[in-house]
Amino acid sequence: MISEDFVVERDDLAQCKVIETELPEAGALPSEALLVKVDRFAFTTNNITYAVAGDELKYWQLFPAPKGFGNIPVWGFGEVIASRHPAVAEGERLFGYFPMATHLIIEATDVSKRGLRDGAAHRQVAASVYNIYARVGNDPAFAGRKGDQQALLRPLFMLSFMVDDYLAENDFFGAQTAMLSSASSKTAFGLAHLIHTQRESVTVIGLTSASNVDFVRSLGCYDEVLTYDHATSVPSSTPVVYVDMAGNSRLRETLHRHFGEAIRYSGRIGLTHRATSPDEPDLPGAKPRFFFAPDQMRKRAREWGPGGIDQRFGIAWDGFGPRLDQWIRIVEGRGPEAVQKIYLDTLAGRIPPEQGHMLSLLD
Ligand SMILES: NC(=O)c1ccc[n+]([C@@H]2O[C@H](COP(=O)([O-])OP(=O)(O)OC[C@H]3O[C@@H](n4cnc5c(N)ncnc54)[C@H](OP(=O)(O)O)[C@@H]3O)[C@@H](O)[C@H]2O)c1
Repeated sequence: MISEDFVVERDDLAQCKVIETELPEAGALPSEALLVKVDRFAFTTNNITYAVAGDELKYWQLFPAPKGFGNIPVWGFGEVIASRHPAVAEGERLFGYFPMATHLIIEATDVSKRGLRDGAAHRQVAASVYNIYARVGNDPAFAGRKGDQQALLRPLFMLSFMVDDYLAENDFFGAQTAMLSSASSKTAFGLAHLIHTQRESVTVIGLTSASNVDFVRSLGCYDEVLTYDHATSVPSSTPVVYVDMAGNSRLRETLHRHFGEAIRYSGRIGLTHRATSPDEPDLPGAKPRFFFAPDQMRKRAREWGPGGIDQRFGIAWDGFGPRLDQWIRIVEGRGPEAVQKIYLDTLAGRIPPEQGHMLSLLD
Protein backbone atom coordinates (compact mmCIF):
# COMPACT_ATOMS: atom_id res chain seq x y z
CA MET A 1 0.00 0.00 0.00
CA ILE A 2 1.14 3.51 -0.84
CA SER A 3 0.66 6.88 0.89
CA GLU A 4 0.80 9.99 -1.27
CA ASP A 5 2.51 12.82 0.60
CA PHE A 6 2.54 16.50 -0.39
CA VAL A 7 5.95 17.96 0.47
CA VAL A 8 7.49 21.41 0.07
CA GLU A 9 11.08 22.59 -0.15
CA ARG A 10 11.95 24.02 3.24
CA ASP A 11 14.14 26.78 1.79
CA ASP A 12 11.86 27.67 -1.11
CA LEU A 13 8.22 27.13 -0.21
CA ALA A 14 7.06 27.74 -3.78
CA GLN A 15 8.58 24.36 -4.76
CA CYS A 16 6.30 21.46 -3.95
CA LYS A 17 5.57 17.94 -5.14
CA VAL A 18 3.75 14.74 -4.30
CA ILE A 19 5.85 11.72 -3.32
CA GLU A 20 4.86 8.14 -2.66
CA THR A 21 5.70 6.38 0.61
CA GLU A 22 5.39 2.64 1.07
CA LEU A 23 3.09 1.65 3.97
CA PRO A 24 3.29 -1.65 5.87
CA GLU A 25 0.52 -4.20 5.39
CA ALA A 26 -2.10 -4.03 8.15
CA GLY A 27 -0.73 -7.19 9.80
CA ALA A 28 2.80 -5.75 9.84
CA LEU A 29 1.86 -2.60 11.75
CA PRO A 30 3.64 -2.26 15.09
CA SER A 31 1.64 -3.33 18.13
CA GLU A 32 -0.98 -0.71 19.16
CA ALA A 33 -0.48 1.23 15.92
CA LEU A 34 -3.30 2.58 13.76
CA LEU A 35 -3.27 3.11 10.02
CA VAL A 36 -5.35 6.20 9.32
CA LYS A 37 -6.67 7.42 6.00
CA VAL A 38 -6.55 11.23 5.98
CA ASP A 39 -10.00 12.15 4.66
CA ARG A 40 -10.09 15.93 4.60
CA PHE A 41 -8.17 18.82 6.08
CA ALA A 42 -8.44 22.59 6.34
CA PHE A 43 -5.88 24.85 4.72
CA THR A 44 -5.41 28.53 5.67
CA THR A 45 -2.57 31.02 5.98
CA ASN A 46 -1.87 29.65 9.44
CA ASN A 47 -0.53 26.50 7.77
CA ILE A 48 1.91 28.64 5.80
CA THR A 49 3.12 30.01 9.14
CA TYR A 50 3.75 26.43 10.29
CA ALA A 51 6.04 26.08 7.26
CA VAL A 52 7.76 29.44 7.73
CA ALA A 53 8.42 28.58 11.39
CA GLY A 54 9.00 24.89 10.62
CA ASP A 55 12.61 24.80 11.85
CA GLU A 56 12.27 27.19 14.76
CA LEU A 57 9.10 25.67 16.23
CA LYS A 58 9.94 22.08 15.18
CA TYR A 59 6.84 21.60 13.01
CA TRP A 60 8.99 19.90 10.37
CA GLN A 61 9.81 17.13 12.80
CA LEU A 62 6.20 16.02 13.31
CA PHE A 63 5.71 14.37 9.92
CA PRO A 64 9.10 13.37 8.48
CA ALA A 65 9.86 14.06 4.81
CA PRO A 66 12.94 13.52 2.59
CA LYS A 67 15.99 15.68 3.33
CA GLY A 68 15.45 19.34 2.45
CA PHE A 69 11.66 18.90 2.27
CA GLY A 70 8.91 19.26 4.84
CA ASN A 71 5.34 18.06 5.23
CA ILE A 72 3.14 20.90 6.48
CA PRO A 73 0.84 19.97 9.38
CA VAL A 74 -2.88 20.54 8.87
CA TRP A 75 -6.00 20.20 11.04
CA GLY A 76 -8.48 17.66 9.78
CA PHE A 77 -10.20 14.31 9.89
CA GLY A 78 -8.98 10.77 9.44
CA GLU A 79 -10.54 7.32 9.44
CA VAL A 80 -8.86 4.33 11.07
CA ILE A 81 -8.59 1.73 8.31
CA ALA A 82 -6.47 -0.78 10.24
CA SER A 83 -5.96 -1.07 13.99
CA ARG A 84 -3.62 -3.06 16.18
CA HIS A 85 -4.93 -1.36 19.30
CA PRO A 86 -7.54 -3.39 21.19
CA ALA A 87 -9.58 -0.30 22.20
CA VAL A 88 -9.71 1.36 18.79
CA ALA A 89 -11.83 -0.15 16.05
CA GLU A 90 -11.53 0.18 12.31
CA GLY A 91 -13.90 2.86 11.06
CA GLU A 92 -13.17 5.25 13.99
CA ARG A 93 -13.19 8.91 12.95
CA LEU A 94 -10.45 11.11 14.42
CA PHE A 95 -9.96 14.88 14.48
CA GLY A 96 -6.49 16.31 14.96
CA TYR A 97 -3.18 17.31 13.45
CA PHE A 98 -2.33 15.41 10.26
CA PRO A 99 0.32 15.59 7.53
CA MET A 100 -0.68 16.68 4.03
CA ALA A 101 -0.88 13.06 2.93
CA THR A 102 -3.35 10.31 2.19
CA HIS A 103 -2.29 8.21 5.20
CA LEU A 104 -0.67 8.42 8.63
CA ILE A 105 0.47 5.72 11.05
CA ILE A 106 -0.32 6.66 14.66
CA GLU A 107 1.24 4.93 17.66
CA ALA A 108 -1.91 5.03 19.78
CA THR A 109 -1.37 5.73 23.46
CA ASP A 110 -3.39 7.26 26.33
CA VAL A 111 -6.55 5.93 24.66
CA SER A 112 -9.71 7.13 26.41
CA LYS A 113 -13.37 7.41 25.47
CA ARG A 114 -12.76 10.92 24.15
CA GLY A 115 -9.45 10.58 22.38
CA LEU A 116 -5.93 9.26 22.07
CA ARG A 117 -2.39 10.49 21.63
CA ASP A 118 0.29 9.65 19.08
CA GLY A 119 3.18 8.42 21.20
CA ALA A 120 5.69 8.25 18.32
CA ALA A 121 9.05 9.50 19.63
CA HIS A 122 9.54 12.05 16.84
CA ARG A 123 6.24 13.75 17.72
CA GLN A 124 7.10 14.46 21.35
CA VAL A 125 9.22 17.51 20.39
CA ALA A 126 6.14 19.76 20.08
CA ALA A 127 3.41 20.83 22.52
CA SER A 128 1.08 17.95 23.43
CA VAL A 129 -1.90 19.67 21.80
CA TYR A 130 -0.36 18.72 18.45
CA ASN A 131 -0.35 14.99 19.21
CA ILE A 132 -3.87 14.53 20.53
CA TYR A 133 -6.71 13.12 18.41
CA ALA A 134 -10.36 13.48 19.38
CA ARG A 135 -12.65 10.50 18.68
CA VAL A 136 -15.47 12.32 16.91
CA GLY A 137 -17.41 9.55 15.15
CA ASN A 138 -20.53 10.09 17.26
CA ASP A 139 -20.25 13.83 17.74
CA PRO A 140 -22.66 15.82 15.51
CA ALA A 141 -20.63 18.98 16.17
CA PHE A 142 -17.85 17.43 14.07
CA ALA A 143 -20.02 16.12 11.23
CA GLY A 144 -20.62 17.62 7.77
CA ARG A 145 -20.37 21.37 7.34
CA LYS A 146 -20.07 21.95 11.09
CA GLY A 147 -17.09 19.59 11.12
CA ASP A 148 -15.45 21.54 8.31
CA GLN A 149 -15.99 24.76 10.26
CA GLN A 150 -14.32 23.15 13.29
CA ALA A 151 -11.30 22.11 11.20
CA LEU A 152 -11.01 25.52 9.58
CA LEU A 153 -11.58 27.73 12.58
CA ARG A 154 -11.42 25.95 15.93
CA PRO A 155 -7.60 25.91 16.28
CA LEU A 156 -7.45 29.56 15.17
CA PHE A 157 -10.29 30.57 17.47
CA MET A 158 -8.41 29.11 20.45
CA LEU A 159 -5.72 31.70 19.74
CA SER A 160 -8.35 34.45 19.36
CA PHE A 161 -9.89 33.33 22.67
CA MET A 162 -6.57 33.39 24.51
CA VAL A 163 -5.60 36.84 23.18
CA ASP A 164 -9.00 38.27 24.17
CA ASP A 165 -8.65 36.70 27.61
CA TYR A 166 -5.11 38.09 28.02
CA LEU A 167 -6.13 41.60 26.98
CA ALA A 168 -9.22 41.59 29.22
CA GLU A 169 -7.20 40.27 32.14
CA ASN A 170 -4.87 43.24 31.68
CA ASP A 171 -7.76 45.67 31.30
CA PHE A 172 -6.63 46.30 27.71
CA PHE A 173 -3.55 47.98 29.20
CA GLY A 174 -5.64 51.05 29.89
CA ALA A 175 -6.65 51.51 26.22
CA GLN A 176 -10.16 51.49 24.82
CA THR A 177 -9.19 50.88 21.22
CA ALA A 178 -7.89 47.60 19.80
CA MET A 179 -6.24 47.63 16.34
CA LEU A 180 -5.97 44.32 14.50
CA SER A 181 -3.94 43.80 11.33
CA SER A 182 -4.88 41.21 8.66
CA ALA A 183 -8.43 41.97 9.81
CA SER A 184 -9.86 39.67 7.13
CA SER A 185 -8.03 36.63 8.54
CA LYS A 186 -10.02 34.06 10.45
CA THR A 187 -7.88 34.47 13.54
CA ALA A 188 -8.33 38.26 13.52
CA PHE A 189 -12.07 38.26 13.00
CA GLY A 190 -12.48 35.61 15.71
CA LEU A 191 -10.75 38.01 18.08
CA ALA A 192 -12.75 40.99 16.79
CA HIS A 193 -15.96 39.01 17.39
CA LEU A 194 -14.96 38.23 20.99
CA ILE A 195 -14.02 41.83 21.79
CA HIS A 196 -17.08 43.21 20.01
CA THR A 197 -19.53 40.94 21.79
CA GLN A 198 -17.94 40.91 25.25
CA ARG A 199 -15.99 44.12 25.85
CA GLU A 200 -18.50 46.88 25.41
CA SER A 201 -16.18 49.78 26.15
CA VAL A 202 -13.55 48.71 23.59
CA THR A 203 -13.62 49.92 19.98
CA VAL A 204 -12.20 47.41 17.47
CA ILE A 205 -10.45 48.77 14.39
CA GLY A 206 -9.58 46.36 11.58
CA LEU A 207 -6.65 47.07 9.22
CA THR A 208 -6.83 45.30 5.89
CA SER A 209 -5.98 45.44 2.18
CA ALA A 210 -8.14 47.55 -0.13
CA SER A 211 -9.48 44.42 -1.83
CA ASN A 212 -10.74 42.97 1.47
CA VAL A 213 -12.42 46.06 2.95
CA ASP A 214 -15.94 45.08 1.85
CA PHE A 215 -15.60 41.59 3.32
CA VAL A 216 -14.27 42.91 6.63
CA ARG A 217 -17.07 45.51 6.85
CA SER A 218 -19.68 42.85 6.08
CA LEU A 219 -18.62 40.84 9.14
CA GLY A 220 -20.09 43.47 11.46
CA CYS A 221 -17.62 42.73 14.25
CA TYR A 222 -15.27 45.66 13.61
CA ASP A 223 -16.38 49.14 14.68
CA GLU A 224 -14.14 50.68 12.03
CA VAL A 225 -12.30 49.26 9.02
CA LEU A 226 -9.25 51.01 7.53
CA THR A 227 -6.94 50.13 4.70
CA TYR A 228 -3.28 49.86 5.66
CA ASP A 229 -2.44 53.22 4.10
CA HIS A 230 -5.06 54.92 6.32
CA ALA A 231 -3.91 53.28 9.55
CA THR A 232 -2.55 56.61 10.83
CA SER A 233 -5.86 58.42 10.37
CA VAL A 234 -6.70 57.50 13.97
CA PRO A 235 -5.69 60.47 16.22
CA SER A 236 -2.19 59.80 17.57
CA SER A 237 -3.21 60.58 21.15
CA THR A 238 -5.67 57.60 21.21
CA PRO A 239 -4.39 54.89 23.57
CA VAL A 240 -4.40 51.62 21.60
CA VAL A 241 -3.49 47.97 21.88
CA TYR A 242 -2.08 46.63 18.62
CA VAL A 243 -2.59 42.95 17.80
CA ASP A 244 -0.50 42.10 14.78
CA MET A 245 -1.46 39.12 12.61
CA ALA A 246 0.32 40.49 9.52
CA GLY A 247 3.91 40.43 10.80
CA ASN A 248 4.71 43.42 8.62
CA SER A 249 7.69 45.30 10.09
CA ARG A 250 7.05 48.52 8.16
CA LEU A 251 3.45 48.69 9.31
CA ARG A 252 4.51 48.11 12.90
CA GLU A 253 7.09 50.89 12.69
CA THR A 254 4.56 53.29 11.11
CA LEU A 255 2.04 52.62 13.88
CA HIS A 256 4.58 52.89 16.71
CA ARG A 257 5.98 56.16 15.35
CA HIS A 258 2.46 57.56 14.90
CA PHE A 259 1.02 56.57 18.30
CA GLY A 260 4.28 56.70 20.30
CA GLU A 261 3.62 56.16 24.00
CA ALA A 262 -0.11 55.75 23.25
CA ILE A 263 0.63 52.22 22.03
CA ARG A 264 0.01 50.45 25.32
CA TYR A 265 0.50 46.90 24.07
CA SER A 266 2.00 45.56 20.84
CA GLY A 267 1.47 41.83 20.39
CA ARG A 268 3.05 39.81 17.59
CA ILE A 269 0.79 36.93 16.61
CA GLY A 270 1.11 36.02 12.96
CA LEU A 271 3.02 36.34 9.72
CA THR A 272 0.31 36.59 7.07
CA HIS A 273 2.21 39.24 5.09
CA ARG A 274 5.56 37.49 5.60
CA ALA A 275 7.27 40.88 5.61
CA THR A 276 9.03 40.64 8.95
CA SER A 277 12.49 42.13 9.04
CA PRO A 278 14.99 40.16 11.18
CA ASP A 279 16.27 43.32 12.84
CA GLU A 280 13.60 45.82 13.68
CA PRO A 281 14.68 49.12 15.24
CA ASP A 282 13.73 50.07 18.81
CA LEU A 283 10.35 51.73 18.58
CA PRO A 284 8.46 54.19 20.76
CA GLY A 285 5.56 52.83 22.82
CA ALA A 286 5.13 49.40 24.37
CA LYS A 287 7.86 46.97 23.32
CA PRO A 288 6.53 44.58 20.65
CA ARG A 289 6.46 41.04 22.01
CA PHE A 290 5.39 37.64 20.79
CA PHE A 291 2.13 36.36 22.19
CA PHE A 292 2.70 32.74 23.11
CA ALA A 293 -0.73 31.12 23.57
CA PRO A 294 0.54 28.06 25.52
CA ASP A 295 1.81 30.41 28.29
CA GLN A 296 -1.64 31.92 28.77
CA MET A 297 -3.22 28.46 28.51
CA ARG A 298 -0.94 27.04 31.20
CA LYS A 299 -1.71 29.97 33.48
CA ARG A 300 -5.46 29.62 32.98
CA ALA A 301 -5.33 25.83 33.36
CA ARG A 302 -3.79 26.39 36.81
CA GLU A 303 -6.25 29.12 37.78
CA TRP A 304 -9.44 27.70 36.28
CA GLY A 305 -8.78 24.06 37.16
CA PRO A 306 -9.54 20.91 35.17
CA GLY A 307 -11.92 21.52 32.27
CA GLY A 308 -12.00 25.28 33.00
CA ILE A 309 -10.56 26.33 29.65
CA ASP A 310 -12.69 23.84 27.69
CA GLN A 311 -15.87 25.00 29.38
CA ARG A 312 -15.24 28.70 28.74
CA PHE A 313 -13.94 28.06 25.24
CA GLY A 314 -17.05 25.96 24.51
CA ILE A 315 -19.31 28.87 25.46
CA ALA A 316 -17.27 31.24 23.28
CA TRP A 317 -17.39 28.79 20.34
CA ASP A 318 -21.18 28.46 20.72
CA GLY A 319 -21.45 32.22 20.18
CA PHE A 320 -19.08 32.17 17.20
CA GLY A 321 -19.93 28.95 15.33
CA PRO A 322 -23.47 29.91 14.27
CA ARG A 323 -22.16 33.03 12.47
CA LEU A 324 -19.79 31.08 10.28
CA ASP A 325 -22.44 30.08 7.75
CA GLN A 326 -22.75 33.76 6.85
CA TRP A 327 -19.05 34.55 7.02
CA ILE A 328 -17.28 31.62 5.38
CA ARG A 329 -18.05 29.63 2.26
CA ILE A 330 -16.56 26.15 2.35
CA VAL A 331 -14.75 25.21 -0.86
CA GLU A 332 -13.76 21.60 -1.37
CA GLY A 333 -10.73 20.42 -3.36
CA ARG A 334 -9.73 16.81 -3.94
CA GLY A 335 -6.64 15.24 -5.47
CA PRO A 336 -2.99 16.36 -5.74
CA GLU A 337 -3.61 19.05 -8.38
CA ALA A 338 -6.34 20.75 -6.36
CA VAL A 339 -4.16 20.63 -3.22
CA GLN A 340 -1.17 22.11 -5.05
CA LYS A 341 -3.26 24.95 -6.49
CA ILE A 342 -4.73 25.97 -3.12
CA TYR A 343 -1.35 25.63 -1.43
CA LEU A 344 0.32 27.95 -3.97
CA ASP A 345 -2.61 30.40 -3.96
CA THR A 346 -2.52 30.56 -0.15
CA LEU A 347 1.26 31.05 -0.19
CA ALA A 348 0.84 33.97 -2.60
CA GLY A 349 -2.09 35.53 -0.68
CA ARG A 350 -4.53 34.91 -3.56
CA ILE A 351 -7.36 33.29 -1.55
CA PRO A 352 -10.45 35.50 -1.06
CA PRO A 353 -11.10 35.79 2.68
CA GLU A 354 -14.66 34.46 2.53
CA GLN A 355 -13.39 31.09 1.26
CA GLY A 356 -12.58 28.25 3.63
CA HIS A 357 -10.67 25.47 1.87
CA MET A 358 -11.19 21.84 2.80
CA LEU A 359 -8.76 19.60 0.93
CA SER A 360 -7.93 15.97 0.44
CA LEU A 361 -5.11 14.25 -1.42
CA LEU A 362 -7.49 11.37 -2.12
CA ASP A 363 -9.15 11.64 -5.54
N1 LIG B 1 0.69 32.37 17.22
C1 LIG B 1 -0.26 31.44 17.11
O1 LIG B 1 -0.35 30.52 17.91
C2 LIG B 1 -1.25 31.54 16.00
C3 LIG B 1 -2.43 30.79 16.02
C4 LIG B 1 -3.37 30.97 14.99
C5 LIG B 1 -3.10 31.86 13.96
N2 LIG B 1 -1.93 32.55 13.97
C6 LIG B 1 -1.58 33.45 12.88
O2 LIG B 1 -2.64 34.29 12.49
C7 LIG B 1 -2.48 34.62 11.11
C8 LIG B 1 -3.80 34.44 10.37
O3 LIG B 1 -4.02 33.08 10.06
P1 LIG B 1 -5.40 32.59 9.41
O4 LIG B 1 -5.23 31.16 9.08
O5 LIG B 1 -6.49 33.08 10.28
O6 LIG B 1 -5.39 33.41 8.04
P2 LIG B 1 -6.42 33.45 6.81
O7 LIG B 1 -7.81 33.40 7.28
O8 LIG B 1 -5.98 32.49 5.78
O9 LIG B 1 -6.07 34.95 6.38
C9 LIG B 1 -6.19 35.45 5.12
C10 LIG B 1 -5.77 36.94 5.14
O10 LIG B 1 -4.40 37.09 5.51
C11 LIG B 1 -3.79 38.12 4.70
N3 LIG B 1 -2.81 37.45 3.82
C12 LIG B 1 -2.71 36.13 3.61
N4 LIG B 1 -1.67 35.82 2.82
C13 LIG B 1 -1.10 36.98 2.50
C14 LIG B 1 0.04 37.32 1.71
N5 LIG B 1 0.81 36.39 1.12
N6 LIG B 1 0.31 38.62 1.56
C15 LIG B 1 -0.45 39.56 2.18
N7 LIG B 1 -1.52 39.27 2.98
C16 LIG B 1 -1.83 38.01 3.12
C17 LIG B 1 -4.94 38.77 3.95
O11 LIG B 1 -5.51 39.67 4.90
P3 LIG B 1 -5.52 41.29 4.84
O12 LIG B 1 -5.81 41.70 3.43
O13 LIG B 1 -6.67 41.61 5.79
O14 LIG B 1 -4.20 41.74 5.35
C18 LIG B 1 -5.87 37.57 3.78
O15 LIG B 1 -7.20 37.95 3.51
C19 LIG B 1 -1.38 33.70 10.56
O16 LIG B 1 -0.16 34.39 10.45
C20 LIG B 1 -1.29 32.64 11.63
O17 LIG B 1 -0.06 32.00 11.68
C21 LIG B 1 -1.02 32.42 14.96
